[in-house]
Amino acid sequence: MSPTDEGALEGARYLLTCDTAGVTVEVGLLRFAPDGAGLIPIIESSIDAPREANQLLLPTIDALLKERGVAHEQLVAIVVGRGPGSFTGVRIGVATAKGLAQGLGIPLYGVSTTDALAYALAREQETPISLALTLDAMRKEVYPALFELGEGTVLQRLRPDYVATPEAAAASFVAYMNEHASQPLLLAGDGLVKYEAVFQEAAHAAGLELHTVATPSLGFGLADAWLATSYQRDTGDVGAVLPIYTRYSDAEESEARREHHTLNAPHDDTVALPVQNIRPLLPLDIPAMAQLEADHAGGLWTPGLIASEFNAAGRLLFGAFAREDGGDGSSLSHCCDREEPSPHKRRLVAYAMCAVLAGELHVFDVATDPAYRRQGLATRLLQTCFDHARAQAVGLATLEVRRSNDEARRLYEHLGFERVGTRTGYYPGGEDALIYRRELLSVRQIEQLWGPQRPLRVLAIESSCDETAAAILEGEHLLSNIVASQIPFHARFGGVVPEIASRKHTEAVVATVDEALRLGLLLPEPRGAGEAISSSGCPSALPLTALDALAVTDRPGLIGALIVGVAYAKGLSWATGLPLYGINHLEGHLYATVDEGDELHYPLVALVVSGGHTMLVTSDAPGVYRVLGSTLDDATGEAFDKVAKALGLPYPGGPQLSRLAEEGDPAAIDFPRALLHSGDYAFSLSGLKTAVITYIKHEQEADRELDLPDLAASFQQAIIDVQVAKAGRAVEETGARAFYLAGGVAANTALREALTAEMESRDVEVRVPPLALCGDNAAMIGRVLVAHAEQAAGERFHDPIALREALAQLPRLGLDAEASAHSDL
Ligand code: KG4
Ligand code: ZN
Repeated sequence: MSPTDEGALEGARYLLTCDTAGVTVEVGLLRFAPDGAGLIPIIESSIDAPREANQLLLPTIDALLKERGVAHEQLVAIVVGRGPGSFTGVRIGVATAKGLAQGLGIPLYGVSTTDALAYALAREQETPISLALTLDAMRKEVYPALFELGEGTVLQRLRPDYVATPEAAAASFVAYMNEHASQPLLLAGDGLVKYEAVFQEAAHAAGLELHTVATPSLGFGLADAWLATSYQRDTGDVGAVLPIYTRYSDAEESEARREHHTLNAPHDDTVALPVQNIRPLLPLDIPAMAQLEADHAGGLWTPGLIASEFNAAGRLLFGAFAREDGGDGSSLSHCCDREEPSPHKRRLVAYAMCAVLAGELHVFDVATDPAYRRQGLATRLLQTCFDHARAQAVGLATLEVRRSNDEARRLYEHLGFERVGTRTGYYPGGEDALIYRRELLSVRQIEQLWGPQRPLRVLAIESSCDETAAAILEGEHLLSNIVASQIPFHARFGGVVPEIASRKHTEAVVATVDEALRLGLLLPEPRGAGEAISSSGCPSALPLTALDALAVTDRPGLIGALIVGVAYAKGLSWATGLPLYGINHLEGHLYATVDEGDELHYPLVALVVSGGHTMLVTSDAPGVYRVLGSTLDDATGEAFDKVAKALGLPYPGGPQLSRLAEEGDPAAIDFPRALLHSGDYAFSLSGLKTAVITYIKHEQEADRELDLPDLAASFQQAIIDVQVAKAGRAVEETGARAFYLAGGVAANTALREALTAEMESRDVEVRVPPLALCGDNAAMIGRVLVAHAEQAAGERFHDPIALREALAQLPRLGLDAEASAHSDL
């Protein structure tokens, strides 16, 4: 097979591949052979882009598809490189691919980047070979991999991906060459280029000669690796694809050193998410479908007929897959297949073929392997088709069934279908066809979801620190607000570990967004008497097509954490065509104080106090902020967390200390109030923190028992005094009408009360966020976007059409957008 230069063929279906594990952005496009016999390489592209993957990946994909005239709907599967490689680089590829696949509703598969390189090299070889690969792992290490040509043209890897010094890698290659003298060994990879002297020297010392070859593009190699290692084993579940990590985070490594344990065991705290065993079918599945049909469903659908379904428009083809070992594979945890693909292949055991024709869903065929009947597979497959049809605003489903097919008739009746007519003698042989129908969406639901008067709907995503969050808003009204907290994963380190935060966002983002969409569905529809829940007329989640916009936190925060959310959101935006807006996390915290139906009142002063910030801000008009002053050292939440840590209290310490403080005397210990009289709006908390820690040590050395409540209350009061004094002066000096308290520390009751009393005594309106919205969440991020649209719509903001027009005028994030760690309001 060689790359072709064809333009897009009508009805053709494509596979997209990408990998950003190394210093290049790799993208490939392949066409599925129409008869299901494999893949035809179309184009691959490899761009040198060290540290620029987030800016270049989507523009490269977009340009490649445009160049070939391939429409979004023609992409039916994505393969992404899982590394090993740069942690951030791999996550950019994986997160972007997740957004793309989730947005397009297509399966996503991951493959090892070293597998992809091996298969890319194997494409170029005519004789059997062995391969020794080394990818640069930075920090004077490499990712080595050895492959032998196995049965047929399949490459066999000799061990899972790992990290080693170039010397150790060279030694393992030499040992292999000594053992397999007859087999030519080819060496390749960017690690080889970087450490060529090390490899040459080791070979020379052993009297061997190295054959090195240039590193090829990975676009097509990713596809070959997928066919060989992943297509039959993984389910294509978008949420289940994760990077390959061969190293632990620095925090875990130093913890291991401290506690004298080794980290080579697969200590794995990856969240075990259920894996979906239903996915859209691919042309490659045609032979398996034809087999299932021939064996168990009458054989009416020949391979040729099935193949033509893949090329036709509007088809919804879904399959259920079971593991060969008998398990259904629906709750596979990652710990078993993290480094090696699962040994269990999966087999197609049921499928459903449907089509949306002239605005109606037609059910063509449902087939189930008898060994897998009565497990609800047919029901689940059809419900999946219903949901996909509903997402296209399809309100009716219809089908025909043989009068004698009692089992099928029972299934359809269970699914809420009603018999509406008969076609006499319709089937060959003269049997009658019974016509069944059911409603998928009522006219009212279609109006609510897509009608011109529907409210403005926003999906917001937040990943700036240690919470993965997603929320759906209808105008100012919150439909769902999901926060996947990572606190348990960071608690053992006494604070947020940035590398772990980025890993957890990559694991959780798809499920978090799915859950927000599921709970975001508020379509109360009276159910008919006796109608079963399983056949209810409701979609199972708010369709992405019913949204107007996406909002994502793009600054400030932990850069590696922000990048995951931004890469994912960009992928989702490209796939769905929904405009994407970047939101400032701090402005988000400010808007968490605004109730539904209210707005910010100007001029205002806001105190933003969180784990990363302590600042006083003023504003006279929407979107225009002036920072009056901020902390010179620690943030307020950080001070709480560090003092708590010194007391041996678990992370995060803020809530713990504030609970203790409720029982204590705030005047018991006189801690310093730094910069109380500085005359400006600067804060300094590290002196206070040190004073408290010194006090604790002092008391412990003197063998006096600490009065924890008194200590907590006195520490807290020292903070409150300074913040209240400065906030008071800020409203006085600016003439502010309203005061807002925002950020995670706004959950502190004593601070809320003290500031409220201060502002009320000055006759200044005061607003604090509800407790549920003090910490990081996505509701506040979505609210900022809605508020910006309302401000742009001016007087007409109650009119959803005007609101959508205003939204369209706001600046968007482009495909090349990057996150930013630092930003003021
Ligand atoms: O805004 P947030 O959730 O995350 C950042 O953007 O930083 O703030 C988290 C911070 C943590 O440091 C936590 O200890 C602190 O807010 N915090 C509190 C309280 N609840 C949370 N600090 C003092 N008193 C509380 N009740
Ligand atoms: Zn925050």
